[in-house]
Amino acid sequence: MPYAHITGWGMSAPESVLTNDDISKMVETSDAWIRERTGIRERHIARDDQFPSTLAVEASIKALKVANLHPRDLDLIICSTSSPEHIFPATACLIQDQLGATKAGAFDLLAACTGFIYAMNMGAQAIRSGSIKSALIIGTETLSRFINWKDRNTCILFGDGAGVLVLQASEQPGGVLSSVLHSDGSGGDLLTLGRGSSRYPASESAILDGKHYIEMDGKEIFRFATRIMVSATHEVLAGAGLTLDQVQWIIPHQANIRIIEAAARGLKLPMERFIVNVEHYGNTSAASIPIAMVEALEKGQIKPGERIVMVGFGAGLTWGALAAEWTGPIPSKGHVRPERYRLFARLRSLVRRALRFIEGLFYRREL
Ligand code: COA
Repeated sequence: MPYAHITGWGMSAPESVLTNDDISKMVETSDAWIRERTGIRERHIARDDQFPSTLAVEASIKALKVANLHPRDLDLIICSTSSPEHIFPATACLIQDQLGATKAGAFDLLAACTGFIYAMNMGAQAIRSGSIKSALIIGTETLSRFINWKDRNTCILFGDGAGVLVLQASEQPGGVLSSVLHSDGSGGDLLTLGRGSSRYPASESAILDGKHYIEMDGKEIFRFATRIMVSATHEVLAGAGLTLDQVQWIIPHQANIRIIEAAARGLKLPMERFIVNVEHYGNTSAASIPIAMVEALEKGQIKPGERIVMVGFGAGLTWGALAAEWTGPIPSKGHVRPERYRLFARLRSLVRRALRFIEGLFYRREL
């Protein structure tokens, strides 16, 4: 049975940075309050012309380059996002087109901030079953578009960005070792975004009711998060037949430093064993775990042969964890340059649109 290895990684964050001081000009808050209660100093906010697919494509190109994998050799693209560009088409299909991943299947996965763990699980299972050889696992968000900048309860927390990992099949033991996925829809009302949905179709009253913004019961989410971080970590380790001592790094969802500190206390681990970057990105939802992992890999913090646990929670409610052994990139020949392929991908997309148009003319004449 093949193993599903992490062979490529890349991230992208919008250049524009919004500091706590900037936010304190919009709502009654302060840098000191936000830092003390959340650990966040700043977050990145997408420009009007940056979308989840824009950020994801930038991150994907970096990840494919590290993996030395050509976009046309990808079998599957899973895009986890809570801020899809449309209800349909899937953001994953927009990314597939922009990358020129000609033979990849592509779909979106919505499990809020736990989305990346769900997506990793799905991609790894498909590789383990032998049905595919490679998958691009994406977490990408522009949640800033759904924030009420007058609500100090939520506007201090979220940021935009994308993180991508490449999974590839290999006979060498390692890679994704185990994962656990959970949900509890009875807590669905604790964190919601209703805009443009079938429950709250776009209408004047939906806008007046503020249904196009994120709404959250922060205290309840906090209590839920601190409870599950410890239990999900123990559960995933039991599934992999590992103890905490055999794992070097915990990569938690970056929502609030106090939630991470509570998890560290619950697991009786020092904070040094946690990968933390919430200070500079805020909560980037489905992108938070991969962004933290990519930064740690780029800094050389995580070394080949080390084991990691990703653990996260989010709206739904959803939560989950994934254990993996990172063995480094698979040695391969030649140098793939996915960034150079982008122009070809764009041309290919244009040609396909033109052919579809011409085909449509003939079809109409036949009728
Ligand atoms: N600036 C200043 N004061 C604020 C504030 C802000 N941005 N937000 C709330 N307050 C005030 C409240 O009004 C309250 O004042 P009161 O005591 O006079 O009523 C006081 O600060 C304490 O509010 P509280 O809600 O108890 O703060 P908290 O310590 O729970 O922190 C959150 C609020 C949102 C930071 C925290 O609950 C949290 O992080 N929850 C989890 C959210 C999360 O992770 N969501 C994403 C899940 S994926």
